[in-house]
Amino acid sequence: MARKIVVTSGKGGVGKTTICANLGVYLSRLGFRVAMLDVDIGLNNLDVVMGLEKQVVFDITDVVSGKCRVRQALVQDVNFPSLYLLPSSHSYASSKITGEHIKNITDIIDHSFDYILLDCPAGVEAGFHRAVYPANEAIIVVTPHLSSLRDADKVLSIISSYHIESKYLVINRMRGDLLLSGEMINIESIVKAMNIPLIGVIPEDDSVGKMSSNGRILTDSESARAFTLLSENIHNGSKKIFDCTYKYRGIMGYFKRTIKKRV
Ligand SMILES: Nc1ncnc2c1ncn2[C@@H]1O[C@H](COP(=O)(O)OP(=O)(O)OP(=O)(O)O)[C@@H](O)[C@H]1O
Ligand SMILES: [Mg+2]
Repeated sequence: MARKIVVTSGKGGVGKTTICANLGVYLSRLGFRVAMLDVDIGLNNLDVVMGLEKQVVFDITDVVSGKCRVRQALVQDVNFPSLYLLPSSHSYASSKITGEHIKNITDIIDHSFDYILLDCPAGVEAGFHRAVYPANEAIIVVTPHLSSLRDADKVLSIISSYHIESKYLVINRMRGDLLLSGEMINIESIVKAMNIPLIGVIPEDDSVGKMSSNGRILTDSESARAFTLLSENIHNGSKKIFDCTYKYRGIMGYFKRTIKKRV
């Protein structure tokens, strides 16, 4: 049986799709069979982030309307053969797709995958319900900003009425220089406010966006190290958190911090 993990946040643009895509890649690199479901219907971009948009033949609406089988709609990643994507669609009236539809899809592929990752849309309306309903675990993505934390708190209270057995916190876009200078909310305060286990911290890293432009991951970047730790933590329950401040420590770090502030 697959672990079914929804990646959600409440607030838009905090990095749900980015984290879903990278988790898919890094879990498949660990040797797992991973299916990513783009449940952000109407605004699909997981296929674009993965660089797979040209391979899309069928999408989630074709599956729901019975035009094709789930297997036919799954797109295999060209770089990671154990990674598959079920694309969303731009066109279908999203209200016609329900949480039950998505659950039927996860039930069909349950035994063929180790992980099913559900990329949730922003907000807490029907689209949220569709993505959360079939999941049994949730990753709550926040950024170190009050508006993101407030929306995530709302999500946590709503999610308590679903069959979610485990909830994990991922803090995205953390800046080590601002953490050291005390200009960003620190990790301890965020964890305390959210009151769920921290499973990953992803630094602000320009190379994250490069995945969107070529569908490839950069294995030597800071975020690559953070995503490696996150996928290992998800898989084996370890608690290794990426230290965003390490390169800003010491005398060289001081200069890096000063230069970054001037940019
Ligand atoms: N750690 C990061 N460092 C730098 N840029 C990032 C990081 N995480 C995400 N981004 C950028 O932020 C933007 C929004 O990310 P993404 O689309 O993953 O957010 P989202 O939560 O899925 O948005 P939506 O709510 O619209 O679905 C993208 O341009 C992405 O490349
Ligand atoms: Mg998204």
